[in-house]
This record gives sequence, C-alpha cells and structure tokens, in this order.
Amino acid sequence: MSSIGENGADFLVVANRLPVDLERLPDGTQRWKHSPGGLVTALEPFLRTHSGAWVGWPGIADAEVDAFEEDGLQLHPVALSAAEVADYYEGFSNGTLWPLYHDVVAPPAFHRRWWNAYVRVNQRFADVTAKVAAQGATVWVQDYQLQLVPAMLRELRPDLRIGFFLHIPFPPVELFMQLPWRTEIIRGLLGADLVGFHRPGGAQNFLWLARRLVGLEPSRGAVGVRTRPGVVQVGDRTVRVGAFPISIDSAGLDALARDKEVQKHAKQIREDLGNPKKILLGVDRLDYTKGIDVRLRALYELLADGRVDPGEVTMVQLATPSRERVEHYKQMRGEIEQAVGRINGEFSTVGHPVVHYLHQSVNRRELTAFMTAADVMVVTPVRDGMNLVCKEYVATRYDLGGALVLSEFAGAAAELTSAFLVNPHDLDGVKNALEAALTLDPAEGRRRMRALRRQVLTHDVDRWARSFLDALGA
Ligand code: ADP
Ligand code: F6P
Repeated sequence: MSSIGENGADFLVVANRLPVDLERLPDGTQRWKHSPGGLVTALEPFLRTHSGAWVGWPGIADAEVDAFEEDGLQLHPVALSAAEVADYYEGFSNGTLWPLYHDVVAPPAFHRRWWNAYVRVNQRFADVTAKVAAQGATVWVQDYQLQLVPAMLRELRPDLRIGFFLHIPFPPVELFMQLPWRTEIIRGLLGADLVGFHRPGGAQNFLWLARRLVGLEPSRGAVGVRTRPGVVQVGDRTVRVGAFPISIDSAGLDALARDKEVQKHAKQIREDLGNPKKILLGVDRLDYTKGIDVRLRALYELLADGRVDPGEVTMVQLATPSRERVEHYKQMRGEIEQAVGRINGEFSTVGHPVVHYLHQSVNRRELTAFMTAADVMVVTPVRDGMNLVCKEYVATRYDLGGALVLSEFAGAAAELTSAFLVNPHDLDGVKNALEAALTLDPAEGRRRMRALRRQVLTHDVDRWARSFLDALGA
C-alpha cells in the first residue's frame, strides 16, 4: 500500500465524495473547498501520509474534471448528472438509506427510479475504480452510498483485495427488512473480503441477514471490537465481518489546541460572547439525526424553569449546511431556526443573545478555538454511527477542562463512558445532564476528562485504519 505506478494505484479509497468539493462561484469561476462530514475528516489525514488514490464525486452536478493530484493524493473524479444527484444522492442515499439506517427517525421513501439510479451510479464507481487500480491492489470502499460497489468491482476485477466500511449505523434487522432491495444490498456488500462496521451489533445484524436473505451459513460466535470477526463462506471466498470503531487525528488536534494563536483566539471568542460564566457548544452538520432540536428544547426549559441564568450562560451552535434540497432537511432547518429565535426572543437582552447560531462551516483552527473556549460540549444525536465531534472535543482539552454531554445513541458512547451520557428522548434527563455539566465540580471534571482523553488519545484514526487494513490483509 503506497505507490501509484504506471499500471495504476496499489491502494485506493472509493467514497461518494472526494476530500475536496468543487464550488461554482457567482462570477462563474470555480474553486475547490474541503468536503463536509466525518468520513473525510477521518480518512484524509491517513491517506495523506500513505500516498494512494481516491475515487469520488466532486460534489456538484455535471462537473467533468480529469484526474489530478493534490498534495500527493491522486484524485479520480466520478461525474454525476443533475438527475443522478437528485435520484442517487439526494434520493436513494439520503431519502431512503439515511433515514432507514438511522432508526427511521424520519420516514424513508422507497422509489424504483431512485434505486435504478443507485445501481447505475454504483456501477460507474466500480468501472472507474477497475480502470485505475493496479493488479492485485487493495481497494477500500466507503459508506452507504456505495454498498453495491464491492460485488460489482469483484465481477470486473477478481484480482483485487476489497474492503468495505460503513460509517453510519447498520440498522436492526426488522428495519432493514423494509427495504425492497434488501437482498441486492447484502449481496453487494458480500463482494468484499472484509465488511466493517463501527459496532459489533451492526456486524451481527449483517451476518444474520446473510443467512436469512442469501441462505449462507455465517459463523455464530459473538463479534468483538477489532477482534473475533464473523466469517461467512461465499462460494470459494471467505468474507470477514468485523467491528472497527472509527476515530480522529487525536495527537494532531491536541497539538493544535496547544498552539498559542489558537488559545488567543479562544479567549477572543469568550470576550466576543461578552465573557459569559459558561459557554455551551454544539457542532454538527445540520442533520435531523443530530438532535440539535433536543438540546435547544432542553435549554429553553432550563431557562424557563429558572435553572439556567440567561445572563450567565451562552450557547454557540455551529451548523454546517447539509443536503439542503432534501425535504426533511429543509423542514428541520426551519424548526431549528424557529427554536433559536424563540429562546433569543424570550431570554436575550440587547447585545447579548443567549444562543449564537451560525449556519456555516468553520476551519480546523477556528473549530479548535471554539472547543477550547467551550465549558460544555453538547452532542445529542438521536442516532449516530460514531460521532467524531465528541472525540474532537476531548482531544482539544489537554487542560482537562470542560465537560461532555453525550447521547447514548452515538456509537462513541460505548467508548466515552466518562461523559455525561443521556437518552436524547428523555428531555428531563437531558436537562439534568446539562445542569450537572454546567455546575460540575472542577476536580470531578478533571477526573472525567482524564479518563476520556486516555481513550481518545490511544485510539486514534491511525489505529482504526490499521486495524481494518490489517484484518483485510489477513
Ligand atoms: P457526520 O459524519 O455525520 O457529519 P461526525 O461527527 O462524525 O458526523 O463528523 C462531522 C465532522 O464535521 C467533524 O470532523 C466536525 O468537526 C466537522 N464539522 C461539523 N460541523 C462543522 C462546522 N460547523 N464547522 C466545521 N466543521 C464541522
Ligand atoms: O459519515 C456520514 C456521511 O454521510 C459521509 O458519508 C459523508 O461524506 C458525510 O457524512 C457528509 O455528508 P454528505 O456527503 O452527504 O454531505
């Protein structure tokens, strides 16, 4: 896994998006910007230190871009038409699979046109990858948008070693069974040599479905974290199925948080906010699974109950714009903005809003400064495969300051057990946890943060990638 020879790349990542998105500016010019989301955050630092190739969509419709090199990484764009963006990306990926895999927190829609586009686009990704992979290369296919690629690619290139990792939860079998194309998806994934999930539960669900839908005989033992993968024989191939919890560049963020300029920026943020006694912070893609509404409702009630003083507590919510043409996202944006307006309307004073809501992305340094400034990081998804934001917060708190309120329904909760764990459906529980975090005794806070940091600093993204690739090579 390292070089890109004349005969193609030895190591390839295949993901829906390239690590950079093409942006068309109003004056007609174009520029590349960093892509949103946890997948790119996790994989980019690893790939940059292990030269390889990345196959992905450039992020806008009808972008005909040739392969190019960026910072030692070979990028191979896969073009999508406007209709494919609507049917494959916004439709089947984010209107069907995303809500289905996130516990149907919004109703998934099932449309044959969307499915047909999903098949067509997965085939295109497989075709491009088959052309640029060297003989015997290792190909690592990523996430729910490309679940048919492993089998399609194996058909084209049986010489490849193929891994697949799902970055979102794999649903309970009762929910997965709703999908009209359930067998095709399981068969698609079984084209890989190794299928990886964040949690052992996802792996077990997949093994059960391989038996029920494809008639295979998978192993029956419990799957462990990074150990004891499940095994299933598919013809003459052995497919392994395991759990590999993803993480972040922990040391990199720790170092960034220690940077003097970042610390100055953090102080400036606190000053700009009017030196509140406590700062609450939320950082998410603006997605209905993230429970932004939950934390706003909890804050509203705490203010209304008189348990939080609006003169002492300020909340900052950074929300990256996401999937803005998908109906559920449009609706949720309206609801969140209304909730922010309600809190500010009832509890703010002139020049001192209680909630600062930024519908925008900030860069890594600025994000680190916000995390350094925050007394309480609030992460309340109703379902999340892992959630990297909570791990990022922990990595930045080398001072052992701050407190983390974390949903039990994020994959990270299994690892970050010293956080204030909450059930996001239990509003009183969320309110109590927020209050406890806001009034935390500093010695107890340091004890909790030390335990959290021990976990995050020893389980970084490099360890995640290595454990997956070692298992794939085994
Ligand atoms: P998801 O993959 O569903 O977006 P994760 O929590 O796993 O969720 O990853 C989100 C990534 O995007 C994190 O690295 C986080 O720091 C980053 N991010 C989210 N919102 C913002 C924002 N407003 N500005 C900058 N980065 C953000
Ligand atoms: O981690 C989940 C994920 O959907 C990634 O696959 C994706 O790159 C990221 O979130 C951001 O979503 P999108 O690519 O739809 O903007």
